[in-house]
Amino acid sequence: MLPPELTTHGARLGEARLRALMAADPGRAASLLMAHAGIELDCSKQRLDRASLVALVAHLEGLGFAARRDALLSGGIVNASEGRPALHMAYRHGARVEGSDAERLVDQTQAQTRAFAERVRAGGFRPGGKPVSRVINIGIGGSDLGPRLVADALADHAEGGPELRFVASLDPSDLQHAVAGADPAALLFVIASKSFSTQETLMNGQAAREWLAGHVGEAQAGRHFAAASAARDKAVAFGIDPANVFDFPDWVGGRYSVWSAVGLSLETGLGPDVFAAFRDGARSMDEHFATAPLERNLPVVKALVDFWNRAVLGHPARCVAPYSARLALLPGYLQQLEMESLGKSVTPGGEPASLPGGALVWGGSGTEVQHSFFQWLHQGSDVTPVDFIGIARHFTSDDPRERVLAANMVAQGAALLDGVQLPAGDDPALAAQRSMPGGRVSSVLLLEALTPATLGALLALHEHKVFVESVLYGINPFDQWGVELGKVLTKGILDGELSGYDASTRAMLARTGFVSD
Ligand code: F6P
Repeated sequence: MLPPELTTHGARLGEARLRALMAADPGRAASLLMAHAGIELDCSKQRLDRASLVALVAHLEGLGFAARRDALLSGGIVNASEGRPALHMAYRHGARVEGSDAERLVDQTQAQTRAFAERVRAGGFRPGGKPVSRVINIGIGGSDLGPRLVADALADHAEGGPELRFVASLDPSDLQHAVAGADPAALLFVIASKSFSTQETLMNGQAAREWLAGHVGEAQAGRHFAAASAARDKAVAFGIDPANVFDFPDWVGGRYSVWSAVGLSLETGLGPDVFAAFRDGARSMDEHFATAPLERNLPVVKALVDFWNRAVLGHPARCVAPYSARLALLPGYLQQLEMESLGKSVTPGGEPASLPGGALVWGGSGTEVQHSFFQWLHQGSDVTPVDFIGIARHFTSDDPRERVLAANMVAQGAALLDGVQLPAGDDPALAAQRSMPGGRVSSVLLLEALTPATLGALLALHEHKVFVESVLYGINPFDQWGVELGKVLTKGILDGELSGYDASTRAMLARTGFVSD
C-alpha cells in the first residue's frame, strides 16, 4: 500500500505545472540533479518537489531498505523463490564478499576468460589452423542482450581483435547472416547459456555445428566452439572441449550475467582491458550505491522517481530515448532487465502485491524516434515519462552533427514540458490541432562520454535502480516464473499434445497445417 503521505503529495502534485514548481523553489533543481562515475542524473523536469522527495526517501527507509541493500551486497538470499543470492556485483568486485568462495570463483574464471581471450586475439587459438577472425555469440535473453548491447556501444573502443556477431533468433536467416562471408576455418562460436537447456540456443548451436561440419568436417567442427554456462556437464555433453567451457554460478541471474563468463565474446572481440574498464565503471556505481546518502544516490533517486511516476502518479510506461547511435540497443536491454525483474504482481509471501509492479519500458534512438513515435509522446492522450540518455561531449563537439544531436535532445525535453498553445486566429480548428499540451515529464542521464567505464556505470545504475524498485513494490526482482508456461506449452505442441487447448488455438494449428485436426 502507498503510505497516506505519498498519496497526499501525489494529489497535490499530480496536476502541478512544472514551471510553477520550478519558480516556487529555486533550490529544487539542485536537489534533483546529481552525478557520479561520469554520469549526471537530472530529474528537474519531474513533477516532484523537495517535500515529496523527502517523503519518498522516508518511505524507502521505512521499508527496511538499508538492511535489504546490505543483504544484497553481502550475498544474502535475496532471491527467495530460488533460494539464491544475487551476486553479479562480485564480478566487478562491487559486493562485500572479500575472501569468500564467491570471490575466489570470480577471480579464477576471470583469469581463465582473460587468458582465453588473449590467446584468441593473439592468433594462438587456431581451431581451424588459422587465427580466429570472427566470433559468433549464440544465446538469447540475458545471454544475448547484454553482450550485444556492449559490443555495439563500445565498437569504437575495440582494440583490434575478431569481428563480433550475434545469433538469438530461431529464424534460420539469423545464423545465415552471422556466418555470411566468413571463412569457416577462422570462426569461433561462443554458446552463452546459463542453463544450457534453452531451446533456441541449443537448436542454433546444433545448426551452427552442422553448418560448420559441412565446411570443415564433422571431426573438426567441435573445436570451433566455446561456452559460458552454469551447466558445465551439459556444455561438455554438447561436444565442447571442457577446457573451453567457462563457468559461472547460479547466483548470477541471466539478465545480470554480462559481467560474468557470458562476456567471453566481448572480452575476445573488444579486448580484456576494455572489458575490465567496463566492469570497473560498474564497480564505481556499486560503491556509490552502497555508500552515498539516499537523497544523493543515483540508483536510489532514479528508482524513487520511476516509482513515483508509476505507483503514485499512475503512468504505466516509461520511454527510453538514447541520443547516441551506439546506444540504440539500450531500450531492448532495459526491457529485459526491468520487465523480467519487475513484471510481477505477487509478493514473495504469495500475497497479491498491493502496488502495480514495474512500468512497461520501451523506446528507441534519437533523433530517429522524433520522426516516428514522438508525435504520440507530445500529443497522444496518454502521458509517458521519458528518459533521455545523452552524451555531454556532444554539446561542445567540433562536429556540428553532434551539437545538433544534443540540441535536439534538450529541445524535446523542453517541448514536452512546455508544449505550446497557439492562438485561435482565423483557423481555431487548425490551431487546436497544432497546439501541444505540455506538462509531460522527463529525466536526463548524461554521460560525460561513451566509454567502457561510463557504460558499465550506466548498466549498474539500472541494475541497482531495479533492486530499489523491487523493495518499493514488495516483489522479488531475481526470478522470472512468468516465462515458463509458454516453454512448456511449446514442447507440448511439438509433441502433439493438443488436448485441452482452446478452440482458437486448435483451429490455428489445424489451419496452418501444423497438425491435422
Ligand atoms: O526464458 C527466460 C530466460 O531464462 C532469461 O531469464 C535468460 O536470460 C534467458 O532465458 C536465457 O537463458 P539461458 O542463459 O539459460 O540460455
